[in-house]
Formats: sequence, structure tokens, C-alpha cells
Amino acid sequence: IKKVGVLTSGGDSPGMNAAIRSVVRTCAYHNIECIGIYRGYQGMIEGDFKEMGPRSVNNIVNKGGTILKSARSTEFRTPEGREKAHENLLKAGIDALVVIGGDGTFTGGLLFNNEFNFPVMGIPGTIDNDIFGTSHTLGYDTALNTVVDVIDKIRDTASSHNRLFFVEVMGRDAGHIALNAGIGAGAEEILIPEEDLGLERLLESLQKSKASGKSSSIVVIAEGDKIGKNVFELKDYVDANLPEYDVRVSVLGHMQRGGSPSCFDRVLASRLGVKAVESLIEGKSSYMVGLQNDKVTLTPLEQAIKGKTEIDRELLRVSDIMST
Ligand code: F6P
Repeated sequence: IKKVGVLTSGGDSPGMNAAIRSVVRTCAYHNIECIGIYRGYQGMIEGDFKEMGPRSVNNIVNKGGTILKSARSTEFRTPEGREKAHENLLKAGIDALVVIGGDGTFTGGLLFNNEFNFPVMGIPGTIDNDIFGTSHTLGYDTALNTVVDVIDKIRDTASSHNRLFFVEVMGRDAGHIALNAGIGAGAEEILIPEEDLGLERLLESLQKSKASGKSSSIVVIAEGDKIGKNVFELKDYVDANLPEYDVRVSVLGHMQRGGSPSCFDRVLASRLGVKAVESLIEGKSSYMVGLQNDKVTLTPLEQAIKGKTEIDRELLRVSDIMST
């Protein structure tokens, strides 16, 4: 390969810039040209390209977001859109792609590879950690630290006013952020999509906690949980059934996606970028680079998209024991 295109697509996540930097510098190290593609697949369709040398990625290892910007392209879902994108790549002399994002990004990359036999490697970047074939996606560790930090602050108010806080966190259909940040922040209960606690058990647990002498509590709720009420309806429900509680709601939202990446995410991004480019050099294609047992591994993109990421059920037990 002579020229690698790199793009970020889907929701941004901390560590994406560190991954771009790693791809660009690994290309330079191996004397391969590198082209940044702006706004994900949409920029590919529009030919929004920029040459990137090792100095073009100075001072971004510590920056959140993505300097290449991101988009969710509907046009790329059409054969005409992908045809246009392919023509632009050929015109620019790009002969391989590194795509950084989540399962939507990988689905686009795989389709592109199947249609045009174009070499593609994926780097998992999403705070949700919902990609099969890696224990960590880029941005997940940073998001956990952000959430724990914020809940620590909320706890100050919860404890000063003897309140119960429902804190909603992101994660789309997965409960990884809720479960791990919940344990880290000492949550009383954690509601995740993978395990429906049920309203009755939630009430029982809150009653028990009050009876055991706790005066304030934090309940962490994943945005995709299956309890059947949104976080505000949940507050109303508890208000109606447990009047002894003074309940407040805090929806953390997009602050979870921002900020400077943790050291873990920076190191992971650097490792994954090197592996992605060097795998392309070795002639590999249609894989996702990931981390398994602290080793950088390759998983076929198809499996990464279709495989199910399980939560560690032992963590649920740990959380139960910790709320004794
Ligand atoms: O996939 C990352 C994520 O932040 C999810 O946790 C959340 O459900 C979604 O993206 C929000 O998407 P948007 O930024 O488009 O509102």
C-alpha cells in the first residue's frame, strides 16, 4: 500500500485524536502517505481530503473530540453514495482505509470492502464499549472516569440534603458505563438493559437501604435500561410510593463524550493505530484491531459487528454486596 485514508465516523469519543495521530505517524514511520478524510463517510463522498504528515498531528494526543470531525452519513448507505466515495478515493490515489468508530462505522467499512475489494481496517471508538472483540473501546475508560467524577460531586449534595439521586448515563443499548461507573461511584442500585431489576425490587431495595440507616443514595440508570419508565417517571413513581425519600434526577448527557482522554485511552489509541496500519502493510483487510487480555488482536469486522458484548455478571453481584 502507498496511501492510507483515515476517518472518524459516528459519535465522537475521547481518544479518537490519539488514534488519528497514531495512524498518521505509523504511516510516516513506514514511508506511506496518509490522507485525513473529514466528516467520516460524508467527506469521502464529497472528496473532503487533506494530506497529513507527522507534524500535522502535533498536540492532539490530549484532545477530546476528533480533529477530522465526524458525521453519520445517510448518503453512504446508498450504492450511488458509495460509488462516488470510491471514485474519490481512486482519484486521490488512496489504496487503503482506517476507519475509527463504532458498529455503524464498521458496517459501512465492511460494505465498502465487499463491494470494491478495498482494504479496510477498523479501530473501535465509542464510549459505549459495545463492540465485540475488544475489552475496551476508545473513550470508554475516559467516560467512566468522567461519570465517576461527576457522581462524586452529586454525592456531596445527596449527602448534605439526605436525598436520593437518579443519575442517567449513556451507553445506548449497553450497560457497561452504568455498571462500572456505578460500582466505582458507590451506587446503591444500578439499572442496566442486560438485567431488568423490576420496579418492585427497586422499591424494596430503597426501603431496605433506608432501614439500614443510609440517609442518601445514588441510583445509576443506563439510558437503555428495561425497567419501563424513563428516569423522570421513575422519580414520580418513587415519590408516590416512598414519600420518605426526597428524589432528584440528573441526566449526564453529552458531557460524558467530551474531555481529555485518560492515559489508558491514549496508550490504547497509540497501540491500535500502529496495529491497524501495520496490518494493512501485511496485506490484511476487514479486521478490527482491539484489546484482549492486554494484547492487541485482530477480529474480523463481521464478527465485531454481529458478536454480542456480554457484561460481567460477577460485577452485578459485587455491586449488590457493596450496597449492603
Ligand atoms: O454511541 C455514543 C452515544 O453517546 C450513546 O451513548 C448515545 O446513546 C448516543 O451516542 C447519542 O447520540 P447523539 O450524540 O447523536 O445524540
